[in-house]
Amino acid sequence: MVQSRHATITEDAIATLVDAFYARVRRDPTLGPVFEAAIAEEEWPEHLETMRRFWSSVMLTSGRYSGNPVAVHRAVAGIERSLFATWLALFTETASELFEAGPASEFATKAQRIATSLQLALFHRLGGPPDGLKRKPAA
Ligand code: HEM
Repeated sequence: MVQSRHATITEDAIATLVDAFYARVRRDPTLGPVFEAAIAEEEWPEHLETMRRFWSSVMLTSGRYSGNPVAVHRAVAGIERSLFATWLALFTETASELFEAGPASEFATKAQRIATSLQLALFHRLGGPPDGLKRKPAA
């Protein structure tokens, strides 16, 4: 049980959120294996640091993150559209536990928007053949 929730979004509060969120992600039966396959044990501190910089840039416009999330996610084996709902539910739940309602909903709104644009970039094939008419991959 969290004693007192953050009223303000600070670098320290973001670090707490990132750590708590990825601890849950790693325990989740569907998301966990995808993350464990992509990030080796010794790479986790670096991933958490990247994610702190990312959320600092998004929420505090600190400019601390520079990178290409679309390219990075394209290379993640096993990433699927259906996993995004779970990702968002866990993120929103964690933010609500750690932050007061106002900042928690700012996190949720941003995460939702970024998740939508990531999914469009990753899974939406403009002008491609509709599902079901795709050429079968060579056996
Ligand atoms: C099902 C959903 C998702 C999965 C399975 C997933 C998985 C991953 C994995 C495995 C990495 C590390 C890749 C690597 O270092 O090799 C990563 C990085 C990252 N993810 Fe996600 N992700 C998901 C959704 C999201 C969402 C919704 C956001 C933003 C709101 C996000 C933001 C990022 C960022 C910023 C990085 C770091 C990119 C960089 O290295 O510059 N991810 N993700």
